[in-house]
Amino acid sequence: MKYFEIQGTKVSRLGFGCMRFPVIDEDNSKIDKKESSKLLLEAIDKGVNYIDTAYPYHEETSEKFVGEFLKENNLRDKIHLATKLPCWLVEKEEDFEKLLNKQLENLQTDHFDFYLLHSLDIKRFRKIVELGVFDFVKKIKESGIVKYIGFSFHDEYEAFEEMVKSYPWDFCQIQLNYLDIEYQAGMKGYDLATKLGIPVIIMEPLKGGRLSNPPEEVLKLQEEFKPMSPSQLAIKFPLSLNNVMTVLSGMNSMKQVEENVEMASVVEYDSLTDRECEFYEKARKAYKDRERIGCTACEYCMPCTVDINIPKVFGFWNKAYLYDESEKSKKDYKKYLEDGVSPEKCIECGKCEDQCPQNLEIIQGLKEANQFLK
Ligand SMILES: NC(=O)c1ccc[n+]([C@@H]2O[C@H](COP(=O)([O-])OP(=O)(O)OC[C@H]3O[C@@H](n4cnc5c(N)ncnc54)[C@H](OP(=O)(O)O)[C@@H]3O)[C@@H](O)[C@H]2O)c1
Repeated sequence: MKYFEIQGTKVSRLGFGCMRFPVIDEDNSKIDKKESSKLLLEAIDKGVNYIDTAYPYHEETSEKFVGEFLKENNLRDKIHLATKLPCWLVEKEEDFEKLLNKQLENLQTDHFDFYLLHSLDIKRFRKIVELGVFDFVKKIKESGIVKYIGFSFHDEYEAFEEMVKSYPWDFCQIQLNYLDIEYQAGMKGYDLATKLGIPVIIMEPLKGGRLSNPPEEVLKLQEEFKPMSPSQLAIKFPLSLNNVMTVLSGMNSMKQVEENVEMASVVEYDSLTDRECEFYEKARKAYKDRERIGCTACEYCMPCTVDINIPKVFGFWNKAYLYDESEKSKKDYKKYLEDGVSPEKCIECGKCEDQCPQNLEIIQGLKEANQFLK
């Protein structure tokens, strides 16, 4: 296992994400504790020392399970424990401490090595700033309850820039994989954090498993890299980036642990070959070609005259084809329609098409997307 040093602490380049443990009866709240313990033990035995959980994972059972696991195996002092403050539950200043105490209890510990403000978008961030989050994190760091403080991010780059520059963070966590280089913080966010000297943790390196099962045309491109598996080729991308402290993966089988550990044990920084870089580029293009409409979600088309969320609708439509996820996209679309405006309400004013930098035929696209998704 390779390690990254952050302020004197050595962190394994692969972190165990505790959001996707094996479960019983397909019930996400019923972690298969026996199987999950085996996976954790194997990973730790192979050098993984960063365990990443959070308050809501597995319907609020992940922290408790990890707490039990660490205690039973006497491992608390041998690993770096990370969890995250569920910022969306903070309504008033006292909630910060209340939630932290509950998490310490869940995890049966008196301190966290890494503590993140969980899943920040700009609205949530500004709200907790107003409620005094910086005083709170200063206090818990000074008292030793938390060693390193960071945040996990889900919003656009501009929001990332505001957040990352607003506090002397010890680290930050972003979603990055070879497909999502321009999504959310993206490579631009990674570059900025690196320039600011803030170590980066990567989540969703396999896009939640989608890159482990690529379509035929991408599989073909991967042939020459065998015996590296699709997952290994995918995880190599973030592992090779300088200043990436650890790459988190939610692993739910021994094979996944073995494959990912193997990569984190051999991949050096800056080690991508020209052929690998070419592969990522071609694979991105192959995925792009599967899209139904070239919407980049720039939102120039917004606001729509009748409030249809155009990029969102196109997002569902594209994802159905990109990852062969028709059923999921249809389900997500149904959910969108509960509060969102249906494309059937389009009055064909054409304002969106005038604004679209990609010159998309939005009116026709909305009709086809709705036809497919409904
Ligand atoms: N802070 C946040 O806001 C936030 C958000 C998302 C995630 N996270 C954290 O980041 C961690 C990592 O994200 P993630 O779980 O989405 O990571 P990921 O590595 O992109 O996805 C994990 C999934 O990929 C598949 N997989 C992993 N290794 C594999 C291998 N070697 N071969 C084949 N398939 C493999 C498995 O899918 P199958 O289940 O299909 O087998 C697994 O469930 C999470 O577990 C969580 O701790 C944090």
